[in-house]
Amino acid sequence: MRESQLSRLERAHASIESRVGAHCEIAIMLGSGLGQIGEAVEDAVRIPYAEIADFPVSTAPGHRGELIFGMLHGRRVAVMQGRLHLYEGWSPRDIALAVYLLKRLGATTLIVTNAAGGLNPDYRAGEVMLIEDHLNFTGLNPLVSVNDEAIGLRFPDMSRAYDPDLLRSASQAAGRAEVPVRHGIYAGVLGPSLETSAERRFLRGSGADAVGMSTVMEVIAAAHAGLPVLGISAITNQATGGPDQAVDTVEAVLANAVRCGEKIAPLLCELLPALPSR
Ligand code: HPA
Repeated sequence: MRESQLSRLERAHASIESRVGAHCEIAIMLGSGLGQIGEAVEDAVRIPYAEIADFPVSTAPGHRGELIFGMLHGRRVAVMQGRLHLYEGWSPRDIALAVYLLKRLGATTLIVTNAAGGLNPDYRAGEVMLIEDHLNFTGLNPLVSVNDEAIGLRFPDMSRAYDPDLLRSASQAAGRAEVPVRHGIYAGVLGPSLETSAERRFLRGSGADAVGMSTVMEVIAAAHAGLPVLGISAITNQATGGPDQAVDTVEAVLANAVRCGEKIAPLLCELLPALPSR
């Protein structure tokens, strides 16, 4: 039988508990190229992932691999600067561990950000999409194994995986920040190769507006742990798979993620103070 997530979680938590200070309220996971948002955290305590027992260490380009505790826009936050991806070889359960740890550290809201290709032909690189729901095309699930009843239910409900109240608050915050946002469906794929043009047309036909290589494992783990989620996608490239489909480069994706980060930062500035204390 596999080792329970609970014992890994307890080891990870015990290894950093004394360094963290007060509990965080809001956990933020920064996607590819969005790491600059972590630089705004005040009174920051930075813990490299390598110093957290049992924790995976991110290797993806544009990811630093630090858990940052501190204050952001008046709220106590834990920011994961450096995302863990299935394509790096981490298992779905490794990725879920990060979510459980953030909950154990006090988080009552999880904000996940990611870089994504725009499947919706109306979307342009540099735009921001609030995630309404997802399609998990990875074929994987972090809850496959013995269920840890102390963490959550065997069959967690996913019908409101992206919390409708958080989505509404984020939409209002975007309005106040004068940041135009799209609302759409995120398709999660395994990567690391990008999708073929036929795959992109297929994903669009399935109802997705954006495609990326992260997020769905974390959101399933958050649903398992009863942690409400807000998802924000940085649209870093057009991914329609149409006749005019451009060749994608990691340089262009990361450059556009930085442009999106310049919109997501003011959105968070409006949103964080407006989030309820739970
Ligand atoms: N596909 C998958 N993941 C991505 C993309 C894409 O086009 N852009 C950024 N992340």
